Amino acid sequence: MLESSEMNFESPQSRMVSPHVTENDTDDIEVNLRPKTLSEYIGQDKVKENMSIYIEAAKKRGEPLDHVLLYGPPGLGKTTLSAIIAHEMGVNIRITSGPAIEKPGDLAALLTNLSENDVLFIDEIHRLSRSIEEVLYPALEDYALDIIIGKGPSARSLRIDLPKFTLIGATTRAGQLTSPLRDRFGVIQRLELYTYDQLCDIIMRSAVILGIACEKAGAMELAKRARGTPRIANRLLKRVRDFAEVIGNGRITEEIAKIALDRMEIDSLGLDNLDKRMLNMLIKGYSGGPVGLETLASAIGEEAVTLEDVCEPFLMQLGFVARTPRGRCATALAYKHLGYEYKGGAADNAQQTFFE
Ligand code: ADE
Repeated sequence: MLESSEMNFESPQSRMVSPHVTENDTDDIEVNLRPKTLSEYIGQDKVKENMSIYIEAAKKRGEPLDHVLLYGPPGLGKTTLSAIIAHEMGVNIRITSGPAIEKPGDLAALLTNLSENDVLFIDEIHRLSRSIEEVLYPALEDYALDIIIGKGPSARSLRIDLPKFTLIGATTRAGQLTSPLRDRFGVIQRLELYTYDQLCDIIMRSAVILGIACEKAGAMELAKRARGTPRIANRLLKRVRDFAEVIGNGRITEEIAKIALDRMEIDSLGLDNLDKRMLNMLIKGYSGGPVGLETLASAIGEEAVTLEDVCEPFLMQLGFVARTPRGRCATALAYKHLGYEYKGGAADNAQQTFFE
């Protein structure tokens, strides 16, 4: 029998603290909150500094920006940043994703419809099929499409010139990209989880745009529970506003934020039931590890990719989970946070590496 805390009541995508876009992240609000220029974009300072130089240089030369790969956990603003890059370059952006491009013809249609120097944004680029990658290579290198006409000995190859363009690829899993594809990006940037101060600034900015009265201490309380992720921070802001309007005077104070987040079962560090189920299973079911991710996932009835993409980056950032060659381990900090006594374990010697 599973304990109630270990049962799966909701899909991972519907969690309040899911970093993925959910049904409730209505387009207009998501889009309104998105910064439009690099100067409005909060955080990711290293990426911003580098990108602004590459953009200025490309503009000076009158050339398209080199192809860019953005990688890092979901919800950190890869699409937003790409739209900003296009805006700063003064060009259009076409947005698509790896799974949406099913046939080589789909990609050919996208590429032939671009204008000179435009940005093509492909989200989840690690999910492109091999046959589509093959079409992409000459497009990236020579701005050309090679089309095979006919079959067998009479087959001929026809080359179609494309406008010069910039591909921006985004992925949560840089390690899954084939090396020929990775090698064709001139700029590779990793996005980091945001600090509490950066999230607090993002929340204060969003509150102004949405017309929500929000005190700095209230915003900070939200920031601390947003798992380093702006998408989660903005979603929590909207839900906490509901509490402020119904049980408070409409203003998000520290007290209202604490009450609302506690009621939503998001703890003081942003952990929700899924994180806790994973950690509890690791600690109680497998003596703190090491245990393989697949085993751990099936023990709590979840997909391994959900734990790997959604829970793990954040739990590793908190220093609660360590990866070892033999599997995942819970650290002393995780034991302490969940109220267990720690007597030493495999995590003590583990190296903390997440994204290679
Ligand atoms: N909204 C979402 N992400 C943001 C960011 N990085 N800066 C400003 N506002 C945001």
